Amino acid sequence: MGNPFDLRDAKAYGRWREQKLAGRPVRAADLTVEIARLDAVGARERGAILDRCRRANMAIYACRDGGAADPAAIRAFAEGFGLRRVDRHLCADESGVSELAVAETGPRRGYVPYSDRGLSWHTDGYYNEATAPIRAVLLHCREAAETGGENGLLDHEIAYIRLRDVDPDYIEALMHPEAMIIPANREGGTEIRPARPGPVFSVDPATGALHMRYSARARNIVWRDDPATRAAVACLNDLLADPDGPAVRCRLSPSQGIIANNVLHNRTAFQDGPAHRRLVYRMRFLDRIAETDAVGVLQS
Ligand SMILES: [Fe+2]
Repeated sequence: MGNPFDLRDAKAYGRWREQKLAGRPVRAADLTVEIARLDAVGARERGAILDRCRRANMAIYACRDGGAADPAAIRAFAEGFGLRRVDRHLCADESGVSELAVAETGPRRGYVPYSDRGLSWHTDGYYNEATAPIRAVLLHCREAAETGGENGLLDHEIAYIRLRDVDPDYIEALMHPEAMIIPANREGGTEIRPARPGPVFSVDPATGALHMRYSARARNIVWRDDPATRAAVACLNDLLADPDGPAVRCRLSPSQGIIANNVLHNRTAFQDGPAHRRLVYRMRFLDRIAETDAVGVLQS
């Protein structure tokens, strides 16, 4: 079978690449699956969502019954896709569900995700330790903003293909264990998280799947100081900034959500109004979406 992510195995890569590009959804509509209820997904609905996740590492769901969208229903939905091990993030509550909304006060204030500012391209948990990567993410829109708050989404496997096609050395540079260093997080002189060096692309030994760790933030990221890394990061940023590039754009309406194997994503700035204050529930998981591992894709 071979390993498509092994730079020495051009044959396996070529087969995987061809299959991946042929089956890839290109518009948000191609990724979207309508479901009746969030907490009781039917077999056909589940199959349709998994089909998108296998081909694109993500699906958008549109739930007809918006009333059931509380954190318990979101957890039940996630569990139906094998997402059980919740990442205990700094700001998530006990259930593991974070409420992304503008925080005027409290510990979340000052963090960009809890503001109405735009979020640059990233994968979630790029600052996590290597032993606890975020493999999947769920975003559920409870309320949309008055204006703005659109998400960009890009399957990280497509980013990998684009970079490898330009120059395989870019992949080698981005797989270096010190390609990207997140400096320690200090608050008031106390280190609350140590520095995290790690690769951008890695192959998850648990599943054989490609994992990506990335943030386009110019601040607080230290890139490995060599020409191949600099060129690879510039190439990736160009790809992400390209309005005619492969990224998909979508603005979630209430009762819609995204389930993904932690693909690249961003968010535009938004403006809340008196009747529309954006609220998105977010969960992060150490599990990958069930039945979407790389070997499974190749055999299907
Ligand atoms: Fe995110």
